Amino acid sequence: MRSVIFTIANQKGGVGKTTTAVNLSAALAEKGVRTLLVDLDPQANATSALGIEKREGASLYGPLRGEGTAIEKIVPTAYRNLFLLPSEEDLAASEIELAGAEGYLGRLQAALAPVRESGQYRAIIIDCPPSLGVLSMNSLAAADYLLIALQCEYLALEGLGQILRNLDRIKQAGVNPSLELGGVVMTMFDTRTKLARQVVEEVRKHLPDRVFESVIPRTIRLSEAPSFGQTILAYDPLSPGSTAYRNLAKEVIARFDLKSAS
Ligand SMILES: Nc1ncnc2c1ncn2[C@@H]1O[C@H](COP(=O)(O)OP(=O)(O)O)[C@@H](O)[C@H]1O
Ligand SMILES: [Mg+2]
Repeated sequence: MRSVIFTIANQKGGVGKTTTAVNLSAALAEKGVRTLLVDLDPQANATSALGIEKREGASLYGPLRGEGTAIEKIVPTAYRNLFLLPSEEDLAASEIELAGAEGYLGRLQAALAPVRESGQYRAIIIDCPPSLGVLSMNSLAAADYLLIALQCEYLALEGLGQILRNLDRIKQAGVNPSLELGGVVMTMFDTRTKLARQVVEEVRKHLPDRVFESVIPRTIRLSEAPSFGQTILAYDPLSPGSTAYRNLAKEVIARFDLKSAS
């Protein structure tokens, strides 16, 4: 089983990266795709959203310094087919400690190589901190595809342009020349406003083929689920948020051929 590595990186906070990382991972797992969620944000929101307690020494902090392996940090979750590489506060130190160290941009890629080679996970999804610091750059160096969570709001296109320019820079700098834009997930869609519809249309016009059909609605249920340590699929399985993430998972499986063995 070959792993496909996705990173949900975006310098902006509060746009639905973690919500998408957690619930897309859960929906893929529900559909039988063995998925590893990598929490690379020292705030550990994805870890707690899965109901897993922060524990010192549990994160990639050690493996990124060359101490211990990523495989030994992986934990099962309450969900079938869904595994987690947790985060905790230590990881914040990596941001500073790694900067400028030898080969610092390739640390995550090296740490994840044995995970990939283990053949245990079909999809690996990395949730990044809301900055383009050392950790996010490491995720861009390690990933096959960048998934962009884009909030349906005024100036969304400008934010998107910025992310796409960063993607080009990373490729041109030789950090990861084969990194590709995997797709754009439109988040926090407010069905009542005309603006939200216009934003989705504009982004679709700008990037035909790359914007997922499934648009994630703004719903209170999606923001409540993490406080119960549950994915939306467990918290409210028939809600619009669940449906949206299930549909997104279907598209991701089809686009990246995740149901085939290789
Ligand atoms: N579709 C949505 N509807 C309602 N609230 C959402 C939605 N997506 C995210 N949120 C909430 O918005 C906040 C920011 O989302 P989050 O996924 O943590 O963003 P990021 O990881 O980009 O910082 C969180 O409180 C989250 O629960
Ligand atoms: Mg987040």
